[in-house]
Amino acid sequence: MKRILTLALTFAATLGLTTSDAQQKIDPAIESKVDGLLKQMTLEEKVGQMAQVSIESLGSLKGQQFSFSDKMKDAVINYKVGSILNTPGALQSASDWNRIITEIQNTAQQSRLKIPVLYGLDDIHGVNYVAGTTLFPQQIGQAATWNPELVHNAGVITAYEGRAAGVPWTFSPVLDLGTNPQWPRIWEGYGEDPYLGAQLGAAFIHGVQDPLGSKDKLIVSVKHYMAYSDPKSGKDRTDAWIPEHYLREYHLPSFAAAIQAGARNVMVNSALINGIPTHVNKHILTDILKNELGFTGFVVSDWQDIENVYRRDKITSSIKEAIALAINAGIDMSMIPYDYKEFCSDLIALVNEGKVSQDRVDDAVRRILRVKYEIGLFETPVTYLKDYPKFASAEFERAAYNTAAESITLLKNTNNTLPLKKGAKVLVTGPNANSIRCLDGGWTYTWQGDKTDEYGAKYNTILEALQKKLGPKNVVYAQGVAYKPKGQYFEDSVINIDAAVKASAGVDYVLLCIGENSYTETPGNLNDLSLSDNQIALANALYKTGKPVVLILNEGRPRIISRIEPRAAAILDIYLPGNSGGNALADILAGDVNPSGKLPITYPRHTNDLAGYIHKPSEGSGNPQGGDTHPQYPFGFGASYTSFAYSTLTVDKKSFGADETATISVNVTNTGARQGKEVVQLFISDLVASLTPDVKRLRGFEKVSLNPGESKTVTFKVPMQQLAFVGVDNQKHLEEGEFKIQVADQSTNFTVTQTKEF
Ligand code: BGC
Repeated sequence: MKRILTLALTFAATLGLTTSDAQQKIDPAIESKVDGLLKQMTLEEKVGQMAQVSIESLGSLKGQQFSFSDKMKDAVINYKVGSILNTPGALQSASDWNRIITEIQNTAQQSRLKIPVLYGLDDIHGVNYVAGTTLFPQQIGQAATWNPELVHNAGVITAYEGRAAGVPWTFSPVLDLGTNPQWPRIWEGYGEDPYLGAQLGAAFIHGVQDPLGSKDKLIVSVKHYMAYSDPKSGKDRTDAWIPEHYLREYHLPSFAAAIQAGARNVMVNSALINGIPTHVNKHILTDILKNELGFTGFVVSDWQDIENVYRRDKITSSIKEAIALAINAGIDMSMIPYDYKEFCSDLIALVNEGKVSQDRVDDAVRRILRVKYEIGLFETPVTYLKDYPKFASAEFERAAYNTAAESITLLKNTNNTLPLKKGAKVLVTGPNANSIRCLDGGWTYTWQGDKTDEYGAKYNTILEALQKKLGPKNVVYAQGVAYKPKGQYFEDSVINIDAAVKASAGVDYVLLCIGENSYTETPGNLNDLSLSDNQIALANALYKTGKPVVLILNEGRPRIISRIEPRAAAILDIYLPGNSGGNALADILAGDVNPSGKLPITYPRHTNDLAGYIHKPSEGSGNPQGGDTHPQYPFGFGASYTSFAYSTLTVDKKSFGADETATISVNVTNTGARQGKEVVQLFISDLVASLTPDVKRLRGFEKVSLNPGESKTVTFKVPMQQLAFVGVDNQKHLEEGEFKIQVADQSTNFTVTQTKEF
């Protein structure tokens, strides 16, 4: 397949730059096809391309079977709608999806210009709206692997299985920075560090898209551009108060890296920044994204969010005005998702009234058609399951398992409680112990993941995996506390704590599986980050038995556990590890796999102490005059069944000019008795700067595998430009002065001799 995008400067993507040195290139052959088509198009046809509707509004379900009504023809032929999204509700097989997409594309063939329809689905941790596909850990778990190769492979498999279903567009990855642990979607992203997020996001995008146009590749939608993740209230879809230099320093780099990695679609932050709904923020959508970062793909709104500018945010007094503001700000396609008639007729009227220019519409449509050509939709509007023999294969399942296994993070292991002694008997307890729904989280078969126990029944829960691993006789089960639905959300209630305590009588260990049930978006909003009282009561009752209690944290966000953490013998954070998570956890507990995950977020200790690792000295621990933050576990933390020692941290020179690159190396040795993987993390601190510097920042990482006694030297190349910060003038500044390098317990300093603006 022809490579249709020449994307320069992948190196720059590794820098987490706030501005791009590389414009996304476009293929002249495709541009001339787009020109030809645009010339033939009426205003109605153009506006239709900018409309995206939800499949639910175009038909209905009879049991599991979805059928289109006449509305599909009305949308695609009469209104020339160019894109459809979403699941019809009930889980469809890949062949069902093939049939659905074929019907849509056959209908598009009956339209005057026969422009194929672009279908998009939320493939959030694999192709989660198609039956039988491979489901990976959610992104937070993928980030905990600190392994870009695994994340890349998750992208490759997602693309392959997406194409097997015939759906060429995924609304992933989420590149929102996980800075606010209260936010209910923190688990959908790669954690709280801009550098880690940029690296993993770029790896995923390459895996999904490259080479674009191939029949086993999709386009991504990087979302939700930008700063959606840090609302002041912690609640989904609410206002963030963030000055532009902080937006550029922290929230923009993962998106900038994604554009440099070739992302062809961007979805917009559903909420507001500084009181401005992002959907009408021309500075963010056009000045920064399209002009400064050189994005040549198209921008899609989030769900109903142009309408929300009017209904929720009270910026306009009609939907029509909201459409004008949003399209003029730079939205190219509106995820309407229901009333396509109103959007199309309003936008046509706005162009006729001169309130939206013909040029703006042409630019939007050009971007959409460009991408439709780039992915080969005109030649191959449908792809079919029969051409994808590896769909749902054991090979793919293994990849998901490996990712889950490398994500699981050992947070505590007093007196080597883990791995379990051979032949040990265990009590498995807690609301998460026997639920595949809890392992997968939201965006699993359904939006909220509420049917996973049915659709994912063949996969092992933690209990089932342990019964298989340790033998049914060695595993006792008592749930103790259970999740119950409560409106859109859930709460837990006590089933029988005494029964759990009694069941522990003959066992060697208690494995207490706690955390959260599945959720996403506003139904996941929370008023208290603490672990629930019922689960704390269960833990405290079990501690009284005197048995070693291992806490298994199965949760999308770090629920506060400080009241029960001190008495836990061991703690494993498994995040939302997906369908293979039960097996991966069982292998780690049994000692067949050595845990190697590291926290991609700070695990807070108190509900009012939520500072992340990126903070100013005034918030630092040991500063009682200031924030004095004391997380339960720091960002990047994770233990192992073996031990590692670091030595000989060196930097090739003592001082550097602004355009130079430092070569930093460090030696790491496995000093324990078993093979293990270690993530070598390079932190650098700017010791004095004209804008208060962060205490430290991650500037490089590498995961290495070491046999007992084995040593490796890990080398990082750090261009000085990477150490520049965004000043209040929104420019990147490198200032002369001293910098400190830290890798584990090793540290050394160097000097930058030149001040420069980048
Ligand atoms: C979510 C997006 C998602 C979209 C389409 C919205 O509610 O915020 O993340 O891609 O729905 O399902």
